Amino acid sequence: MGQITYVKSASQLICMDGEGGPRTGRGMSRLGIIASGSVVIEDGIIVFAGSDALAEQYLSRRQSEAEIVDARGKVVTPGLVDPHTHAIFAGSRENELELRLQGVKYIDILKRGGGILNTARSTREAAEEELVRQSRLRLDRFLLHGVTTIEAKSGYGLTVQDELKQLRAARALNELHPIDVVPTFMGAHAVPEEYRNNPEGYVDLVVNEMLPAVAEYGLAEYCDVFCEQGVFNTAQSRRILEAAGGLGFKLKLHADEIAEGFGGAELAAELGAVSAEHLLKASAEGVQALAKSGTVAVLLPGTALFLMERPAAARSMIEAGVPVALSTDCNPGSSPTVSMPFILSAACLTMRMTPAEVLTASTINAAYAIGRGEKIGSIEIGKQGDLVLFDADNYRQLPYYYGMNLVHTVIKKGRVVVK
Ligand code: NIG
Ligand code: FE
Repeated sequence: MGQITYVKSASQLICMDGEGGPRTGRGMSRLGIIASGSVVIEDGIIVFAGSDALAEQYLSRRQSEAEIVDARGKVVTPGLVDPHTHAIFAGSRENELELRLQGVKYIDILKRGGGILNTARSTREAAEEELVRQSRLRLDRFLLHGVTTIEAKSGYGLTVQDELKQLRAARALNELHPIDVVPTFMGAHAVPEEYRNNPEGYVDLVVNEMLPAVAEYGLAEYCDVFCEQGVFNTAQSRRILEAAGGLGFKLKLHADEIAEGFGGAELAAELGAVSAEHLLKASAEGVQALAKSGTVAVLLPGTALFLMERPAAARSMIEAGVPVALSTDCNPGSSPTVSMPFILSAACLTMRMTPAEVLTASTINAAYAIGRGEKIGSIEIGKQGDLVLFDADNYRQLPYYYGMNLVHTVIKKGRVVVK
């Protein structure tokens, strides 16, 4: 007999039943709500989701063996999925907020050797255990905000050894923390200082040494590149991603964040990337290309806000049929937050996504953005028992109470991990 968790009598159960792929268009508004609903999880897997009455019948005498989680007066959703983070790093960069408030541009701070290069210095200096310690505290905070799975990118090592160290830290955290961590190799996050005058040499290092080493140790599932004016151009990005694809990595791309119509969205679509991320400045053609290729647009409204930039055109993307997901982009420079609930509010307020759409974008679509759509992101029989209980009367209150954390209980693989 397995370990049974019985989440009982939620006022709203937001099931987000899968449709075999990420949601698009009006499909992003279908939440599959059950009023007075219960969930039964056995050995970490959902075995029942439905009305309270049917749950009683389903469990019958086994009810006495179950750990009961009282969900009365709560909204229950799938565990939130954050599909784009740079959560494994050492240090912080609050000085840059003040610089940017004085008018210095984010990309100029990087060009002066700050920004990503600043965090690369502190991350290189940190021993692996220290990197795990600092990042673990961050993961604890993610969990308190209802996040049960994150993607985490490397890209603050920028040497073979330090990139491997960062990815090993991600693997250690995946093992020792309740949150599942999906690792992405992003050695092409910035050109490090020692290659300032030889960026092609750094691309060679990424292609010839870093990618094969990461593949050999099985340390990442995805490869991502910061495709941006003044960072890696589209030719360099293509070269890195094609090499990664050849080694079996799935692809992601930081696309069209800063420069207007740089061609990142088009490149991500052409290479069949699983996701294209940021997209603040994506061209109309790029958006059409994403719709055609089925690439998930991972939008980061917190980053647009924190960089004081115009947000991505979520409405046009949804109208064009692009599957949209949301993420914190948690990183020390452009989005130092772990709060997916805040991101849901920001997506409504700055991109005019609806409360129903933002829930889809942070659960099932976010799961598909990291290749986990068959395993997490909805409350369905056979899926992992990752749930969040929110102190709210209905799901519309989740983005409405902005800047507040309504998370009451978090359940990961059937175990109560936040209460
Ligand atoms: O997604 N744009 C590139 N990378 C991160 C920022 C990383 C940093 O500033 O440390 C982002 O915004
Ligand atoms: Fe990012």
